[in-house]
Amino acid sequence: MIIAVDGPAAAGKGTLTRRLAEYFDLAVLDTGLLYRASAAKLLGRGDDPADHPAAVRAARALTLTDIQDPGLRAEEVGAAASLIGAIPEVRAALLDYQRAFADHPPGGKSGAVLDGRDIGTVVCPDAPHKVFLSASPEVRARRRVKELRERGIEAIHSVVLRDMEKRDSLDKSRGISPLVPAGDALKLDTSDLDADAVFARVLDHIQPGNRVRST
Ligand code: CDP
Repeated sequence: MIIAVDGPAAAGKGTLTRRLAEYFDLAVLDTGLLYRASAAKLLGRGDDPADHPAAVRAARALTLTDIQDPGLRAEEVGAAASLIGAIPEVRAALLDYQRAFADHPPGGKSGAVLDGRDIGTVVCPDAPHKVFLSASPEVRARRRVKELRERGIEAIHSVVLRDMEKRDSLDKSRGISPLVPAGDALKLDTSDLDADAVFARVLDHIQPGNRVRST
């Protein structure tokens, strides 16, 4: 079983992904971490995200330890991730790992949930289950501020909103793997839905008629 979960920043992808993985016992890959870790490596080397060869070198040098750094959630890393995510060679460098993860999920799992921007369109276009989450920028900024503060990172709503809209617009307009729903994805606006409601809708889509098992 492969489930593709795509959508813009703070639309609820991470929460949904974790719940689906737990419910179906699947491996999880937050593909944003690959872009964020490449960006962090580049910034850590004192390079500029606009320097394409340096960005490609960083993506090619990525190791699994790099994606465990808690500092990856910082917004400046997200912004740099979005910049380097528009470079075709960076995406190419990260593609094989994502596809291999989906084809051969680690930990003896029988399938995987991948979340990102282009899972349903590019990474796993044949995934049997695809979800595209969205929510209004206001709601998403509120969620991101809460999430950052819970991680002990200072966050100001207006700044988060502005940065997020800038990143969304970059992600949607890039020439390669833009942020668009796959034609066969379930599209869900989560602005007025809590995590339980989102999970229930998605589960019903994957297994029509099935009720959510109480946990
Ligand atoms: O957590 P959040 O939704 O804010 O971002 P993320 O999923 O960690 O992704 C950070 C950035 O990486 C995004 O803004 C995209 O530009 C890029 N990304 C991408 O291009 N393709 C993916 N499959 C995942 C992330």
